[in-house]
Amino acid sequence: MDFKIQVTELKDLRQAQADALLLLVGEGTEPAALGKALGGLLTQALEDGDLAYKAGRCLYLHKPAGVKAPRVVFAAAGGDSPKALRAALLAGLGPLKGGGARHLLVASALPTPLDAAQAQALVAAAADALYTYRHTKPSAPAAPKLQRLSLACGVANTAAVRDGLRVGEAIAAGVGVARECANRPGNHATPSHLADEARRLGKAHGFDVQVLGRKEVEKLGMGCFLAVAQGSAQPLKFIVMQYHGAGKTAAPLVLVGKGITFDTGGISLKPAAEMDEMKFDMGGAASVLGTFRAVAELKPKLNLVGLIPACENMPGGTAVKPGDVVTSLSGQTVEILNTDAEGRLILCDALTYAERFKPAAVIDIATLTGACVIALGHHRSGLFSPDDTLATELQNAGAAALDPCWRMPLDEEYDEGLKSNFADMANVGPRAGGAITAAMFLKRYTAKYPWAHLDIAGSAWKSGAAKGATGRPVPLLTHFVMGRAA
Ligand code: BES
Ligand code: MN
Ligand code: ZN
Repeated sequence: MDFKIQVTELKDLRQAQADALLLLVGEGTEPAALGKALGGLLTQALEDGDLAYKAGRCLYLHKPAGVKAPRVVFAAAGGDSPKALRAALLAGLGPLKGGGARHLLVASALPTPLDAAQAQALVAAAADALYTYRHTKPSAPAAPKLQRLSLACGVANTAAVRDGLRVGEAIAAGVGVARECANRPGNHATPSHLADEARRLGKAHGFDVQVLGRKEVEKLGMGCFLAVAQGSAQPLKFIVMQYHGAGKTAAPLVLVGKGITFDTGGISLKPAAEMDEMKFDMGGAASVLGTFRAVAELKPKLNLVGLIPACENMPGGTAVKPGDVVTSLSGQTVEILNTDAEGRLILCDALTYAERFKPAAVIDIATLTGACVIALGHHRSGLFSPDDTLATELQNAGAAALDPCWRMPLDEEYDEGLKSNFADMANVGPRAGGAITAAMFLKRYTAKYPWAHLDIAGSAWKSGAAKGATGRPVPLLTHFVMGRAA
């Protein structure tokens, strides 16, 4: 999708070039401000009861008299927050998506002119709504004709809208990368595929990618990562990505993404129902790839490192067994009581590897626990950090990006459950508070830098009829990174 700005005052919209016009309206919208033709249509629709200033309501008009654009949609927003505007746009796009329109012009007729945050939300949401998965589905509906979206704004606020559009477009591209990558099935999106995708993105968008294989990972001593990967016929990959936007000596941010390309549970096998969804268990890795895509476009002046331990978690004759004890890269030993708690095992070695970059902060992103879904549902990602400043930064980034998270506790009492008689720690604790114990496990590997963990088990994909990856938390991470560079 192609995004532009069109400098057009509200009163001139009836003349505007575009084959569809979407007008965001709501409390305070003065029909008169839209000029005679559009204002008249709006007044009439409100009077006839075919439209109301109520969130979710919209009205599609085909070739209305006096307006150059052959399609007009009025979409009502329940306020002027970016979130309200996004909801209105998504409702208004409904009748346009499968139609003949190629170029959509979106304008806000709300009392305050479009600002950067609103523009950003609109652009990101439009691109998201127009995505269709087709890689393994040749019968998927043809790509929407809608290929161009312009934001109408007055001269006075062009700069703000341009800024919002730029960030929204980058986030949209990043979310697109993450969704596509995570949607691909386990037999396509293998660890090798993730590595190829990282290399391709690096080449196309200007960041360095290095991929370590089993030999190198063995030599380093990543015993936990190796233990998870050992049951699979697919070779493991450890992907290292580096974006250089600042001097060599500037401490980088490090993003670590869980890259389990399929999680069967291993010998602690998962039940069959919905196991297919465990192809999304590389959602953390996908979000790191997507964030690199977005950041490479926005070119902030900082250094960013991405680490992706990628492998399958499979049962089999060579698979790791409950009770096996392995030695992590940190030197700490782990008793693997449950092979289905594999995410923390691949992450702990990546978190230790992160030390070599002397990072300013490390964020890991993982579809880590079913318990996090029970705690927070599908709306907010779980945020865990012993560092109040970093936690606040991430919460604010999530709020601004409309990609929210919620902070969870890390009291030392929760660490109790990880005691083992045979190793420095077990890889699981009691069922209660499972998302927190998982975070406590990771915490044992992060003493050397400010650290936060995002459990995206509930937010990385949708189940049911709309089954598919969401691309979250690319918006949150992109905002966080850009905030650090500012
Ligand atoms: N990938 C899963 C977490 C998961 C489960 C995400 C369901 C989304 C939906 C993870 O590897 C896992 O299996 N976690 C276990 C941990 C348990 C064995 C301590 C879980 O949550 O059941
Ligand atoms: Mn698992
Ligand atoms: Zn998993």
